[in-house]
Amino acid sequence: MSSALRSVLRQSRRSPFARQARLASTSAKQVSLKDRVAELIPAEIENVKATRAEHGKKTFGPVLVDQLYGGMRGMPALIWDGSVLDAEEGIRFRGKTIPECQELLPKAPGGSEPLPEALFWLLLTGEAPTQEQVTALSRDWAARAAIPEFVEELLDRCPPTLHPMSQFSLAVTALNHDSAFAKAYAEGIPKKEYWKPVFEDCMDLIAKLPNIAGRIYRNVYGQGKLPTIDLERDYSWNLSTLLGFGDNANFVELMRLYLTIHSDHEGGNVSAHTGKLVGSALSDPFLAFGASLNGLAGPLHGLANQEVLLWLRKMQSKIGENASDEAVREYVWSTLQGGQVVPGYGHAVLRKTDPRYTAQREFALKHLPNDPLFKLVGQVYQIVPDILLAAGKAKNPWPNVDAHSGVLLTHYGLTQMQFYTVLFGVSRAFGVAAQLIWDRALGAPLERPKSYSTAAIQKMFKDKQ
Ligand SMILES: CC(C)(COP(=O)(O)OP(=O)(O)OC[C@H]1O[C@@H](n2cnc3c(N)ncnc32)[C@H](O)[C@@H]1OP(=O)(O)O)[C@@H](O)C(=O)NCCC(=O)NCCS
Repeated sequence: MSSALRSVLRQSRRSPFARQARLASTSAKQVSLKDRVAELIPAEIENVKATRAEHGKKTFGPVLVDQLYGGMRGMPALIWDGSVLDAEEGIRFRGKTIPECQELLPKAPGGSEPLPEALFWLLLTGEAPTQEQVTALSRDWAARAAIPEFVEELLDRCPPTLHPMSQFSLAVTALNHDSAFAKAYAEGIPKKEYWKPVFEDCMDLIAKLPNIAGRIYRNVYGQGKLPTIDLERDYSWNLSTLLGFGDNANFVELMRLYLTIHSDHEGGNVSAHTGKLVGSALSDPFLAFGASLNGLAGPLHGLANQEVLLWLRKMQSKIGENASDEAVREYVWSTLQGGQVVPGYGHAVLRKTDPRYTAQREFALKHLPNDPLFKLVGQVYQIVPDILLAAGKAKNPWPNVDAHSGVLLTHYGLTQMQFYTVLFGVSRAFGVAAQLIWDRALGAPLERPKSYSTAAIQKMFKDKQ
C-alpha cells in the first residue's frame, strides 16, 4: 500500500461518519449546523477518496437481466449517507435505529418524541445536537418560514379539486424563483462552493414547507385563515398550528414522531432517488424536491397512506364496525381477487414488520389504545400477513409505515386522507435535503446509468448459454 493511500485511510478512520452518533463533540462551542457541516467536509472528501482508492475497482454482485426488467430491485446503484435500510431490521439513521433516536435526540420541553430538527442535524452530521443547537435550528427555520406572495397566490388559485400533492409540488417547484444556488450558479460560483447556497436553499425549503402545507390544507378544506409562525416554537408545533391542531399537545407530539420517522429510507426509494437524480443535473433543491414529491404522490409509494385509510373505510362500510376476523379475512381476499394490492403491506426491500409501523403502534398504544380504527388496524395486522403468504405473490407480507399513519391522524381529527401524503412530503424533505447538501459538497457527478433495448439484450446473449 502506498504511503499516500495509508495517509488517506488514516484520515478516513477519523471521518465523523466512521463514528457512532453521539452528543455533538462541538457542544462546548455551540457551532451552527452550517459551520459544523463545513468542518466535516474536508475529512469526508478524504474519506470518499480513500474508499474509492481502496475499493473503487471491486465489484459486488453481478447484474441480472431480470433486474433491468424488474425495477432494479437489489441492484447496487447509489451512495446515500443519511440512512441505510436493512431488510430484516429496518431503517437506521446514521447508524441509529428509531428507538435509539427516540432515546438519544433532544425533545421539546415536556415532550417524549424526538424533535425532527435534531434528526435533520443527525442526518447531516452523523452527530446528535445539543438542546441549544436544536433550539437555534427551530428559530432559524421559523425565521425563514414565510413564502413569497406569488406562491401564496398560486396556491389560492388552485381549484380545491386539484390533489393536495399536485398543489404541494407546484408550490415547491415555484420556490426556485428565489434559489440561492440557481443565482450563484448563474454568477459562476466555483464547484467546491456549490454546497453553500445549496445548504441555504435546503434550509429555506424545509422552513417554508409548513406554510405551504398549512395553506393547502386550509384552502382545500375551508379551515379559515392561516395563523402566523411563532418564532419561539419548534417546527412541529408550528406545522400543527398552521394545520389547526397546535393546541393539542398529543397531536404535536405525533407530528414530531411522524416527521422523524418518515424523513429518510435510504436512497433507492422513488422520492429519495428522484431528488438525488434531479439534483445531479444541478437543478436547485426546489426543483429537485418538487420532482421527489411527484414520485411520492404515487399509490405504490407515499400515496399508500391515503389508500390505507380509504381501504379501511371501505371495509368498514361493507362489513361494519367490530367485524369478525372471518369477515375481515373475506374482505382482504376480495381485495386480492379484485386484482388490487392490500395497501400498507409489502415492501421492495423490507422483509419484516417496518419499525416505523411499530413506532406508530407504540404511540397509539400509549395515546389512543381504545380507538376503534386503531383496533381494526391491529386486527388487520393479525390477518393480512397469513393471507398474503397464502396468496403466494408478495415477497414481504408484513405492514409498512403507511399501514398505520392515517389512523393516528384521523384520531386527532385530521380526517382528510387526501392530505396525508403532504405530511409525508414535509418529512421526506429532511432526508432528500441532507443528501443534496452532501452530494454537492462531495462533487457528486451527473447521474447517467446505461439503458438497453430488448433487441440489444437479445443480441448480446444470442449465442451464449
Ligand atoms: C410496496 C410494493 C410496491 C413493493 O413492490 P415489489 O417490490 O414489486 O413487491 P413484491 O416483489 O413483493 O411483488 C411481487 C408481487 O406481489 C404483489 N404484492 C406485493 N405487495 C402486495 C400487497 N400488499 N397486496 C397484494 N399484492 C402484493 C405485487 O403486486 C407483485 O405482483 P405481480 O407479480 O402480479 O406484479 C408492494 O408491496 C405494494 O404494492 N404494496 C402495497 C402498496 C404500499 O403499501 N406501498 C407503500 C410502500 S412503503
